Amino acid sequence: MTVFALETSCDETSAAVVVDGEVRANVVASQIRLHAEYGGVVPELAAREHLRNLLPVSRAAFETARTEPSQVDLIAATRGPGLPTALLIGLKAAQAMAFALQRPFYGVHHHVAHLYSPWITGDPPRADFRSFEPHISLIVSGGHTLLVHVPRLLEHRLLGSTLDDAAGECFDKTGKLLGLPYPAGPVMDRLAENGNPEAYDFPRPLRDEPNDDFSFSGLKTAVRYYLRDHPELARDPKALPDLCASVQAAIVDVLVTKTVRAARRWGVKLVTASGGVVCNRALRSELQKACAAHGLRLRLAAPAFCTDNAAMIAVLASLQAQQGRPPTDLDAEIRPDWSLEESHA
Ligand code: KG4
Ligand code: ZN
Repeated sequence: MTVFALETSCDETSAAVVVDGEVRANVVASQIRLHAEYGGVVPELAAREHLRNLLPVSRAAFETARTEPSQVDLIAATRGPGLPTALLIGLKAAQAMAFALQRPFYGVHHHVAHLYSPWITGDPPRADFRSFEPHISLIVSGGHTLLVHVPRLLEHRLLGSTLDDAAGECFDKTGKLLGLPYPAGPVMDRLAENGNPEAYDFPRPLRDEPNDDFSFSGLKTAVRYYLRDHPELARDPKALPDLCASVQAAIVDVLVTKTVRAARRWGVKLVTASGGVVCNRALRSELQKACAAHGLRLRLAAPAFCTDNAAMIAVLASLQAQQGRPPTDLDAEIRPDWSLEESHA
């Protein structure tokens, strides 16, 4: 089965071609530089940029995959959640294509697509669900921090989420306080490499609470007050790597502790993790260590499939089709606030 998918929920325009589970093309045009001067994603600019990028990115995906639109069996796009004007571009383009080619269309949930992205592995990358088993999944991006129980394929239950800022948002906002460019997550990751994670003792909000929720705004505020009370740090070039390493350690500690605790409570033997923040090297290695210490297997999404991409949208749509889920109406509307609970995969 040949699947063509589009992803335009936020600030990446992406098109992918997936053939029988194998990712033949996954083209991503990032708008990060465009939004950097505003310190965050500007929805109107994102929508215009998606419109500009959509055809070149789609053509590049077909060329890379050596596939023609007429060979496509199924067309998919992100239906939500995301920025309304950004979602509209990809969803309506995919529906128009499905109408023109008379093919089934699947409008999929962005976070459910992230949820299954750790199953895309190998070179060439391919989605393989043969070794699927019940697991706990951590989805961490710029907009969301979700802990999910997945008992069966295409069944999931949201255990907890952030009460305020998402983990990626915490990286970005504390990074901004430290004078780093947007998005600060990857920059902090690099700077933290030469820093001491124990140099500063920042709070670990909700880490020891008996729930699966997260809260990161207090950590951001703690960093703000610490910098206000220690103005000399701004003049100390050695302070920055230590501050980055210490902030990163606090975020990672909370994410890892709560994920492993949920896995043990549900009695699963597998943990998976996905979303942009899973590119973070400290998070990857600490999850690895904690899972090994508790006899849990770990499946991390490959960095190329952590950040927003259309390959994961195609993979979820083919899984849904294989499992007999009905296609989505061609006039279905975007769902900017679509919750994971309502998605029914
Ligand atoms: O999933 P994603 O690409 O977009 C959505 O938000 O949906 O995630 C982007 C987030 C940003 O907050 C960015 O700072 C963070 O992921 N991020 C990282 C790293 N790479 C991306 N955070 C920490 N370390 C990284 N290496
Ligand atoms: Zn995402």
